[in-house]
Amino acid sequence: MTSIVVLISGRGSNLEAILRAGIGVQAVISSRADAGGLEIARQWKIPAVTVDAADYAVRAQFDAALAAAVDRFAPDLVVLAGFMRLLDTEFVSRYAGRMLNVHPSLLPALPGLHTHRRALAAGARLHGATVHFVTAELDAGPIVIQAAVPVLDDDDEHSLAARVLREEHRIYPLAVRWFVEGRLTIRGGRVVVAGARMPQAALVSPCTEEEA
Ligand code: GAR
Repeated sequence: MTSIVVLISGRGSNLEAILRAGIGVQAVISSRADAGGLEIARQWKIPAVTVDAADYAVRAQFDAALAAAVDRFAPDLVVLAGFMRLLDTEFVSRYAGRMLNVHPSLLPALPGLHTHRRALAAGARLHGATVHFVTAELDAGPIVIQAAVPVLDDDDEHSLAARVLREEHRIYPLAVRWFVEGRLTIRGGRVVVAGARMPQAALVSPCTEEEA
């Protein structure tokens, strides 16, 4: 069985979506003691560890503690689910090809924070979510799957974030399942999915949303 460790910093809704999809998670590691996702881990009876960034004065010490906490479980796959800390390059290269992240934009557009606000400010008509393999660069790396949603005229940051989050909850479990099933190969910086029954991109139209 693929051993999976999920790293969180907050509410943990993506963690929950993965668990609800029937994917086994060996452990949850949080960078914050007050992360809501820790409660989700408890509910699902999954070992949860906190490596609180606030306890470390020096970043290198936090990095070392985090790496040790993850390595203890010797995971086959590390899943970043709302993990809001930069990872050090040594850790990233050790887990190269076996660490996934979900980001709330259609990468390579809008890496970083406040993606929904920035999409609205730019007048984007399409926005979305991306699951990608993690590389040393922030919110970059071979893309596994993306879902695009429309930006509607009356959207605010909240309504747009909710529409994108629904898609995150759909595509992240799918991407993790593909990994577990051994279907993902990175070729020349692009991800090939063997025998996928689902396309690697989906456009959720306003009609689909209203009908749903
Ligand atoms: C999600 O929207 C995720 O895409 C984002 O944080 C949120 C976590 O929600 N991640 C990033 O911005 C990473 N760059 P969750 O804790 O409910 O899963």
